[in-house]
Amino acid sequence: MSLSSLLKLAFPKEFIREIIRLLPNQPLSRRVRWDLFSRPDYAYGVYQASLQAAALGIMRISAIEFGVAGGNGLVALESIAEEIAAATGVQVDTYGFDSGYGMPAPVDYRDLPYVWQQGFFQMDVDALRKRLRKSTLVLGDFTETVPGFIANYRPAPIGFISFDADYYSSTVTTFGLLEADHAFFLPRVLCYFDDMIGGDLELHSPYAGELLAIEEFNAAHRWMKIAKIHGLMHKRPVTAWWNDELFAHHRFDHPLYNRHVHPEKDWQMRLR
Ligand SMILES: C[S@@+](CC[C@H](N)C(=O)[O-])C[C@H]1O[C@@H](n2cnc3c(N)ncnc32)[C@H](O)[C@@H]1O
Repeated sequence: MSLSSLLKLAFPKEFIREIIRLLPNQPLSRRVRWDLFSRPDYAYGVYQASLQAAALGIMRISAIEFGVAGGNGLVALESIAEEIAAATGVQVDTYGFDSGYGMPAPVDYRDLPYVWQQGFFQMDVDALRKRLRKSTLVLGDFTETVPGFIANYRPAPIGFISFDADYYSSTVTTFGLLEADHAFFLPRVLCYFDDMIGGDLELHSPYAGELLAIEEFNAAHRWMKIAKIHGLMHKRPVTAWWNDELFAHHRFDHPLYNRHVHPEKDWQMRLR
């Protein structure tokens, strides 16, 4: 057995991560790489969006959470956004969309009522507002808040979206936002979908829930797709369930889609 295989056995990646966690003043890129955030999925998505934006010369972006509930995700998103802005120079405006009164009634079997029910995940709006430093809460049913969002808020280009509204019907409504002009999006929007793994009773499939909403969106759009980031888990030092829930929303006819963003500006592979 080689020395490096022996070292890998003696020090599994999870162990190395805990060592790094103890080290002070670790750079943001390392903390994202090693999942050292309470919401590593959000940290990865917002960080990648910021890198893409910076490479395109865009220094302000938006990050959205669809489905806020008590607000733990939005509070985490806000603090990740602040940290990423300080490290990359890309400002990140954060928005949280929610009814404010929990889940609406499920429409049919595609909303998985055997898992989620009306009234789940209610919000204490005043308590959450006190915790938020700069996020914008957009309250009301998505059918009321999504259609006017762009005109009312004129957001900076959207670079990250967390889809965490549980239901198929609610997810389809949130996808209405993606119909807005390219000016309000990065060419590739990092997306997190919370509701496609879950506990053993959830049994997610492409015939209901978020997976069905994505299939239908892709079937209906020639120039826009929502696609899983292929092989993400192989790029991570420590794999995690969220690696299977990170997608990119591609806007192929966005004016900046073909702009080169790779850090290697003259990529050669010369014969050694
Ligand atoms: C699972 S919770 C979100 C959890 C949150 N993202 C977190 O990480 O803490 C789902 C939320 O989606 C919201 N929601 C679902 N359908 C909605 C709709 N049609 N309009 C507005 N909010 C909706 C519910 O109010 C609920 O709070």
